[in-house]
Amino acid sequence: MNSKIKKILLKKNKSKIVSLTAYSKSFAKILDKYCDIILVGDSMANVLYGHKNTHKLNMKNIIQHTLSVKMGVKKSLLVVDMPKGSYSNSKKALKNAKLIINQTKADAVKLESNNSNFKIIELLVKKNIPVMGHIGYTPQFKKKFKIEGLSEKETYSLLKEAESIEKAGAFSIVLECLTTHAARLISSKISIPTIGIGSSSYCDGQILVTDDMIGLSGFYPKFIKKYANLERIIEKATKKYTRDVKLVKFPSKKNFLNGPRFR
Ligand code: KIV
Repeated sequence: MNSKIKKILLKKNKSKIVSLTAYSKSFAKILDKYCDIILVGDSMANVLYGHKNTHKLNMKNIIQHTLSVKMGVKKSLLVVDMPKGSYSNSKKALKNAKLIINQTKADAVKLESNNSNFKIIELLVKKNIPVMGHIGYTPQFKKKFKIEGLSEKETYSLLKEAESIEKAGAFSIVLECLTTHAARLISSKISIPTIGIGSSSYCDGQILVTDDMIGLSGFYPKFIKKYANLERIIEKATKKYTRDVKLVKFPSKKNFLNGPRFR
């Protein structure tokens, strides 16, 4: 087993797993110092490409961004989201998961669960491709956002889904927008780590979309904590630059390239 995955598994019930998303080298290089897991999430469809959902993202997009992220990652486990439609049957799933892993040298792929694609997880794991599962609000399959696990019946169904994913061989599961009760129950019943987003602190780790966490996406629902306001910082810097260019304050003499001795 990949030693980075072993490290993640050992954290269950010991220390919290820290994860964030990245779509480029510059971000990955910073996050890598602190994160256990970096996810090249298909959330890039919304965050970077401005799509209204994640459905149009394709293999080429995800591979391209993973190649960039990979350059910034040294120690974190690099997980890549499989785009919608790329794992709709076993043959497709295996071909595309192999393409992602072989071309990018990422450590694992993440698949959203539709409560029936457990055999696909099983096949990928059998072929030595580590898989992270994803249950609850799964934007590739669910049309409308809804908190998951609001009834006992739904909570039981989510638990069964998580258990099936564990049984299929996944090394961890993202729990997205589950009630506190459902997240706590699932995290206590399964033996692989749960990574929560909008699912309380009763998970083995947490993940956020980095652009939300740093105030760059404009998307701030209750479950997100904005740790910085990069939109404001970038705007301030751009305003200053604009003023300097207009007043011919930039470039100043110290920025001029006079002859061969620059830098
Ligand atoms: O695509 C993504 O960023 C994700 C996280 C929200 C878990 O799947």
